[in-house]
Amino acid sequence: MQAAKRIANVRFTACRLPPECNERRVTDMQTILMDMTKGVDEAQMAQAGEIIRTGGLVAFPTETVYGLGGNALDPDASRKIYAAKGRPSDNPLIVHIADFEAIRKIVTDVPEQAEKLAKAFWPGPLTMILNKSSAVPLATTGGLNTVAIRMPDNPVALALIRAGGGYIAAPSANTSGRPSPTKASHVMDDLSGKIDCVIDGGPVGIGVESTIVDLTEEEPVILRPGYINQHMLEAVLGTVHMDKGLIINDPGVHPKAPGMKYRHYAPKASLTIVRGDAARVETKINELVAADRAKGLRVGIIATRESRADYHQGIIRVVGTRAEEITISQHLFAILREFDDIGVDRIYSEAFDSEELGTAIMNRLVKAAGHQIIEV
Ligand code: TXA
Ligand code: MG
Repeated sequence: MQAAKRIANVRFTACRLPPECNERRVTDMQTILMDMTKGVDEAQMAQAGEIIRTGGLVAFPTETVYGLGGNALDPDASRKIYAAKGRPSDNPLIVHIADFEAIRKIVTDVPEQAEKLAKAFWPGPLTMILNKSSAVPLATTGGLNTVAIRMPDNPVALALIRAGGGYIAAPSANTSGRPSPTKASHVMDDLSGKIDCVIDGGPVGIGVESTIVDLTEEEPVILRPGYINQHMLEAVLGTVHMDKGLIINDPGVHPKAPGMKYRHYAPKASLTIVRGDAARVETKINELVAADRAKGLRVGIIATRESRADYHQGIIRVVGTRAEEITISQHLFAILREFDDIGVDRIYSEAFDSEELGTAIMNRLVKAAGHQIIEV
C-alpha cells in the first residue's frame, strides 16, 4: 500500500459519512482516485497492479458496470471484497481474465462451447460458468465447485488484469443491495474509505451487468440476462435455455445464480412499473402521480424521450430513447441512484419489454420494483 500512497493526484481523501452516523469504521482508509478517462496511464496502472498483487482492492471500469477487483487466487482478497461490499459470502464472484489461454489454469476442462462463445463474444459482456480447478479458492466461488469467468471489453480493465497478475475477482463495485455503479462517482459514494483505489474510466457503455451462461449442465442455461441475448447465444450454440428461476415468479423456484435471489438494485423509494399500451401507461402514471402529490409525497417518473412531454408533474427523468435501447440500459442505475439522493417517496417507471436488451433491462427493473407491476 505504501507505493500506492505516493500517487500524486489524490482527489478524494476522506470517506463521506452522514453526520448522524457516529459508528467508527473498522477499515477506514484513504481511497486513491486515478483518472484514466483519457486512456491507460502506465505509471498509475503499475501502481494499481501492485495493489492487486499485494492483496488490496481496486475498483475499475468495464463495458458493463464498474467492478471491485481483488486477486481471484487469494482467498484473503476475496474475503476483503465481501467485507467492503457487505455482501453475503455465499454469493460467488466473477473471475476476470485478459486472454483466453488464462482460462486453462482455473477450470478442469474447456468445453468446445466455451471456445465457441469466447471466439464470438470475448472480450465482451458475457460470463461463462465452468467447473473450477483447485487453483481457484472456494472463498472466491462462494463455496461452489464451479467458477464464473469473463473477459471484459475495456482497455483499462484488461490492463489492470494483466498488471494485477492475470486473475481478478470482481463483483459490481456497489454496496450490496444498491444499484450497480455506472460511473466512478457512484463507486466513491459507496466504497470510499473502504477500498484502496478507484480507477475512473468515465461512464460505462452498456450499464447492466454481463449475461451469465452456465455451461456445466447438459445444455447451456442463461442465469442472468444481459447485452448478449438468447438469440445471439443460440446462433453460436444451438438451443440455450433461460433459468426457470428467472421466468417463474414463484418463491419455491430459486434462480441458479445465487446473486439473482437477493433483492438487488433496490432504490430507497417504492418503485412501481406500469405496463401496457403507451398512451394508457402515460395516463395511468399521471393519475398515480397526481394522487400521491395530493398526499404530499415526492414522486419520481422514469420516462423516455418519446413520452417526456406527456408527463406534467413530479420529478421527471428521461432514461433514454426507445429507438436505441442501449441508451436506456446506460442510464437506468444512475437514475435510481439520483432518486435515492433526491429522497423521493415513490417512483413510477414505464416498462421495457422486448426480446433484445429489454429482457435485461426489465429483469433489473422488476427486481428493483420488488415485482410491483400495474398492467393497464
Ligand atoms: O458485468 C458484470 O458481470 C460485472 C462486471 C464487474 O464484470 N460483474 C458483476 O458481478 O455483475 P456480480 O458479483 O455483481 O454478479 C455476479 C453474479 C451473481 O449473481 C452470482 O451469484 C453469479 O454471478 N455467479 C458467480 N459465480 C457463479 C457460479 N459459479 N454459479 C452460478 N452463479 C454464479
Ligand atoms: Mg452485483
